[in-house]
Amino acid sequence: MTVPQHVSIIMDGNGRWAQAHGLERVKGHIEGVKRVRDVVEECAELGVRYLSLYTFSEENWNRPSGEVGALMDLLKQSVEGEYDNLMRQGVRFIALGNRKRLPAMLNAAVSRLEKATAGNTTITLVVMLSYSGQWDILQAARQLAGVSEDEITPELFASKLVTAGIPDPDLVIRTSGEKRLSNYMLWQTAYSEFVFVPTLWPDFGKSNLRDALEEYSSRDRRFGKVK
Ligand code: IPE
Ligand code: IPE
Ligand code: MG
Repeated sequence: MTVPQHVSIIMDGNGRWAQAHGLERVKGHIEGVKRVRDVVEECAELGVRYLSLYTFSEENWNRPSGEVGALMDLLKQSVEGEYDNLMRQGVRFIALGNRKRLPAMLNAAVSRLEKATAGNTTITLVVMLSYSGQWDILQAARQLAGVSEDEITPELFASKLVTAGIPDPDLVIRTSGEKRLSNYMLWQTAYSEFVFVPTLWPDFGKSNLRDALEEYSSRDRRFGKVK
């Protein structure tokens, strides 16, 4: 099996999972955090080097304030609670996105976890928080506003994206049956392989992840060339 270097997941379907179980939406998010634990473990086991997770989009700020508040509390709790687990597994944690928009307490907890896990080398867990692909492209463009046009190469542009230094995702998995990017890494997914699965995120287990990796392994990546 060819193991992708970078797996990215659009973790969708928490609300529908909760609804199907007669629960409030936030219970779906709580269950979803447990699946994050499982996929981190499995990816580390399989030798994946980067696992990035679309956790909260710029557009998700437009949800009802009760849900946004509950999500921010849950994120802070998880970021603080996972320290031992991540250290034990050798996981380096980083969070990327429009961090200024995050509540100060969450942002501080995120920075603490980044610092504490900076020396870990088994796998890098990239949590995309208040992220959107268009926001990322715009913030990169703003940094290049004064640069002369013939100096602006794809490599220079990519070095201004928040994902600079991280290889582009080889595989993007989206759960819950939706078949769209929802403003995820628009630049970085130019040649990614996509696997869309009907499973709702709180039901997505290690075996679902392995199935997606098998599917990836059967793909023929050509990058525009003739093989
Ligand atoms: C994904 O689940 C989590 C976030 C986007 C924060 P959703 O909350 O989007 O769940 P559905 O899509 O409404 O079922
Ligand atoms: C995408 O899911 C964002 C995350 C998983 C964090 P959404 O549920 O926000 O996307 P749409 O609204 O269905 O496109
Ligand atoms: Mg959704």
